[in-house]
Amino acid sequence: MKVLIVGNGAREHVIAERIAEEAELYAVMSKKNPAIARLSKKHWICNIENADEVKKVLQGESFDLGFSSPDATLAAGVSDVLSEFCSGVASPGKNASRIEWDKAYARNLMKNHSIPGLPGFAVVSSGEEARSFIKETGEVAVKPVGLTGGKGVRIMGEHLNGEEETIAYVNSLIEKDGSVVLEERLFGEEFTLQAFCDGEHVALMPPVQDHKRAFEQDKGPNTGGMGSYSTGENLPFLEQKDLEEGGDIIRKIIEVMKKEGNPFKGILYGQFMAMENGVKVIEFNARFGDPEAMNVVPLVKGSFVEIFQKMAEENLGSVEFDNSSTVVKYLVPEGYPGKSVKDAEVSVEEGTDAKIYYASVYEKEGKIFTTGSRSFGILGIAGNIEEAERIAEEGCKNSSGPMWHRKDIGTKELLEKRIKHMKELRG
Ligand code: AMP
Ligand code: GLY
Repeated sequence: MKVLIVGNGAREHVIAERIAEEAELYAVMSKKNPAIARLSKKHWICNIENADEVKKVLQGESFDLGFSSPDATLAAGVSDVLSEFCSGVASPGKNASRIEWDKAYARNLMKNHSIPGLPGFAVVSSGEEARSFIKETGEVAVKPVGLTGGKGVRIMGEHLNGEEETIAYVNSLIEKDGSVVLEERLFGEEFTLQAFCDGEHVALMPPVQDHKRAFEQDKGPNTGGMGSYSTGENLPFLEQKDLEEGGDIIRKIIEVMKKEGNPFKGILYGQFMAMENGVKVIEFNARFGDPEAMNVVPLVKGSFVEIFQKMAEENLGSVEFDNSSTVVKYLVPEGYPGKSVKDAEVSVEEGTDAKIYYASVYEKEGKIFTTGSRSFGILGIAGNIEEAERIAEEGCKNSSGPMWHRKDIGTKELLEKRIKHMKELRG
């Protein structure tokens, strides 16, 4: 079987690893990820955020199955191009991935179909409209309408100090995009729920908690994600009903997208805020999370390729997961997420129990160098979270070069803080 993947991050590395265990892997990448290249029978380099370029490099090729992974490739319609070269495609086309690339579409879909979990929101195109929404609502989250690699969202009271600073940011986004999404500020604990979807059926994955803030204690700017953990069927700060509500929302989205003639096939990612009385939706993505893919993909039982194939063929069944705990820590270049060190030589040695996933790095003369974005995802898997954290930390320590990571992710102290926070909110 010939399987093609588009993408070159750590998220794609973990997917590629599963595919290569059972099929012939082919890859299209923007930059050569040395690990994915080694797993692949053949790879092509082009701008994967341009569907025409992908089409050009694939001329004359054919595959049994295709999967386009990153947000910007989905938004560029790369899955639609893959359908010309692959018998089946397991990722959403441009229209279906709109759930991610158009935040206003996602919010209005929830509103028009009365899907629960919708925070107060407004799509505004002037500073005055923003002011009146803030008067009504109080503190808000300001979200660019399009894709920003997870870095464009700013929260009033956290990144934005007071109304004037908020309005200034709102105006700068309106100038760029014409409009901006404002949302009521939510207080609670975040979790990620991902699902395999075939346009109609849904198979949920175990929940994960990501850490978007750059620094320990959840301080600093938003990043693509500094690391994440999972603890089997549920997270320790969630109640069973939080998880059920999240799952119901995902199933409803799949149902209404089908009803609207825009069925969603691929990985639907829901980011939720667990609050004192139920869950609210922060956003949807049309793909695996990065780092969250590293928490769940290795836990899938049985044939991974078969699940992708069934998604493509629209007859997805149930999917089972190993009940282990996982911790992912991202090694990022010094200075990340501001002025990151570029072109610095870095390495992570094998030889610990940690699994190493290559992210934004490149290889030259057998050495690995940073690009300025996240460098390596380091994964620990174990029967309990303490052990998984220890393994991930040991993997991080086995590295060299100017990189750093958040040491608090997956630790007992951090988990206890989450549990305490939810207890306080629930009274
Ligand atoms: P997003 O890019 O939408 O995932 O947002 C990035 C981060 O901003 C999220 O992980 C949350 O921590 C935070 N955030 C987004 N929307 C809200 C909201 N309505 N209230 C509070 N925090 C939010
Ligand atoms: N980890 C957040 C994301 O992939 O969007």
